[in-house]
Amino acid sequence: MTKLLVANWKMNKNAKECFDFFEEFKLKFSGKRSAWIAPQAIHLNLVINEGKKCNVMAGVQNCSEFLSGAYTGEISPRNVKELNGHFVILGHSERRQYFQETSKHLNAKVKTALKEDLKVIYCVGETLPERESNQTLSIVGDQIQQGLNDMSEATADNLIVAYEPVWAIGTGKTATPAQAQEVHAFIRAELKKKFPAFGEKIQLLYGGSVKPDNVEELLGQKDIDGGLVGGASLKASDFLALCGDK
Ligand code: 13P
Repeated sequence: MTKLLVANWKMNKNAKECFDFFEEFKLKFSGKRSAWIAPQAIHLNLVINEGKKCNVMAGVQNCSEFLSGAYTGEISPRNVKELNGHFVILGHSERRQYFQETSKHLNAKVKTALKEDLKVIYCVGETLPERESNQTLSIVGDQIQQGLNDMSEATADNLIVAYEPVWAIGTGKTATPAQAQEVHAFIRAELKKKFPAFGEKIQLLYGGSVKPDNVEELLGQKDIDGGLVGGASLKASDFLALCGDK
């Protein structure tokens, strides 16, 4: 399976900075690994157009469970698709923590986005106190069960799951490859139970302080199919290195 590197730019970069990134990125990107970018939604069109020139897919960092209507400030998954957006990240820990998104609420968003034929990157992960009290697998297991509840097997084809331990996000503390692999293997087993025909094929991304100097070891793990990257995706040279194009 081709490895997938997804840039989550969070609330960073103005329009000029987005253009500048592509000016540099497109010179060296070979496509040996797939690269997707989720800018702020206001730059989605820009990133779709620049991405087209170098085979990079664009998506958003959140969307609504509704398709249209009186939902001030929300992003319609249907309109993301109409613009040729490729994917949506749902359930990032920053959305769970700062915007009170719950796995139950996310379940509605996941189902709607999949129905609109977007790829969904559904994020799960434990906090430090949860890890220290040996609750990692039960927390991640609940997030999988609730967030992916009652989904038809057919829609699972467009599903990607990202494991992002909250304590590793933006902290410079990466999970060790063995710690990440243990949770990925658990997620794989849960997905296989839920979706017997697709569980094996669902891509699993690791996120949390992925950097050029640790990416190869992480991607070398059996159940790690790619990375979801914040800080190190903002600089074109670092993101190129993660994509294997130094
Ligand atoms: P960092 O790569 O900055 O730790 O962020 C990870 C992340 O939150 C990606 O979604």
